[in-house]
Amino acid sequence: MSVMAIVGAQWGDEGKGKVIDELASRADYVVRYQGGGNAGHRVVHGDDEFAFHLVPAGVLHPNVICVIGNGVVVDPRGLLHEMENLRQLGVDLDRIVISERAHVVMPYHFVLDRLEEESRGVEHLGTVMRGIGPAYVDKYSRVGIRMADLLDVDHFRSKLSAVLAQKNRMITQIYGQSALSLEEIHTEYVGYAQRLRAHIRDTESILQKALGERRAILLEGAQGALLDIDFGTYPFVTSSSTVAGNASTGAGLPPRSIDHVLGIYKAYITRVGSGPMPTELFNGEGDALRAAGREFGTTTGRPRRCGWFDAVAGRFVARLNGFDSVAIMKLDVLDSFSAIKICTSYRLNGRELHAPPANHNDLAACEPVYEEWPGWQAPTTDATCWDDLPEKARRYLRRIEALLGTPLALVSVGPGRGKTVHLRELVL
Ligand code: GDP
Ligand code: IMO
Ligand code: MG
Repeated sequence: MSVMAIVGAQWGDEGKGKVIDELASRADYVVRYQGGGNAGHRVVHGDDEFAFHLVPAGVLHPNVICVIGNGVVVDPRGLLHEMENLRQLGVDLDRIVISERAHVVMPYHFVLDRLEEESRGVEHLGTVMRGIGPAYVDKYSRVGIRMADLLDVDHFRSKLSAVLAQKNRMITQIYGQSALSLEEIHTEYVGYAQRLRAHIRDTESILQKALGERRAILLEGAQGALLDIDFGTYPFVTSSSTVAGNASTGAGLPPRSIDHVLGIYKAYITRVGSGPMPTELFNGEGDALRAAGREFGTTTGRPRRCGWFDAVAGRFVARLNGFDSVAIMKLDVLDSFSAIKICTSYRLNGRELHAPPANHNDLAACEPVYEEWPGWQAPTTDATCWDDLPEKARRYLRRIEALLGTPLALVSVGPGRGKTVHLRELVL
């Protein structure tokens, strides 16, 4: 096997960073294929914690080449800041390459993200304010600026001058704010381009060569399938395709090159930002999950909304992505609960639903139908193999596996490297 896609299966923050960091010990390449600085992927090594936003989470392995693929939208200032932090830790930055086709998140994208959110009022999406939506809008409107454009100073200036005129009309005439300066943006971004020049490459050729050599490639998803632009809880979604189907496009690899798709779920569910969430808990149980799971956003610090495992959404996502196997993360967070629920269907106007409805108002009106499982009320964080887990925990996990209809490959019992129970070998 050479190519594995690792995909978030809920509303993001499932623990993709931890899984990538562990699997990357056997990888040659780790590739981000969509999203941008809205992602926050945490990796814990002993007392040290790292949060990655644009740099692939495999970077702590000295031999891994980290690719920011064409499907990503790149904020060069944020990326340089992240790279500088890594440099100070002694990480060799030559291993980071950025697709020349990746779109650049520009200052007006940040401004418009904020202004559009403010204008939505109570209907706001709760974006992470990293300019992601406006950057993807420009990509599809064909007025985006790509990394390759930044490298050609005059060409960049003429593109920027045309697009900025249009953006400034929006910023001043629709939103009544001050216009942005062409000179300032041009100078700032030419400076970033100079600093990033050596990293900007035709990454699709690099990856296709690696594929030909049967190198081990991990495709690192950001966000999660319930935030997918098509299949998520639209319009409360992110602006990219987060599902496995986009992993090949966003990396520049053929679809059939992906040998294995691994879906990442938490043993419960969280969401940050607005939008329907059928199993959300508004009681002390939700608070207990948030406290035990330290459920506060990696990128924004916002408290995450917490709820029971939603197997209706879970099965829908497993089928959409064609998961070959799944990981269940943060099992240890449930250790102290005396009873644990799983949502097995939704009830809407007297009907029972087995898949999330497309209309977000219908989804918001869905009531979860639960089955209740006894808690194991014992620590799981030192488990190193399946038999170390309490029997009630094993029964809970087997039930989730059956509901998802996908084999369980690993169970995570703590944030640190190695705090993982493997049920089957994931060949890379
Ligand atoms: P990502 O965006 O999918 O990479 O997830 P985040 O890094 O945003 O959020 C997951 C959080 O849970 C991080 O702080 C991880 O360090 C932490 N984490 C990952 N796996 C486990 C686990 O098994 N148990 C516990 N307690 N924490 C975990
Ligand atoms: P990782 O990769 C959790 C959410 C935002 C908001 C919605 C749209 O760490 O799992 P955006 O800024 O993308 O336009 O916001 O998507 N969101 C995430 N939630 N984890 C993420 O990334 C997220 N990236 C975006 O909170 O609800
Ligand atoms: Mg995250």
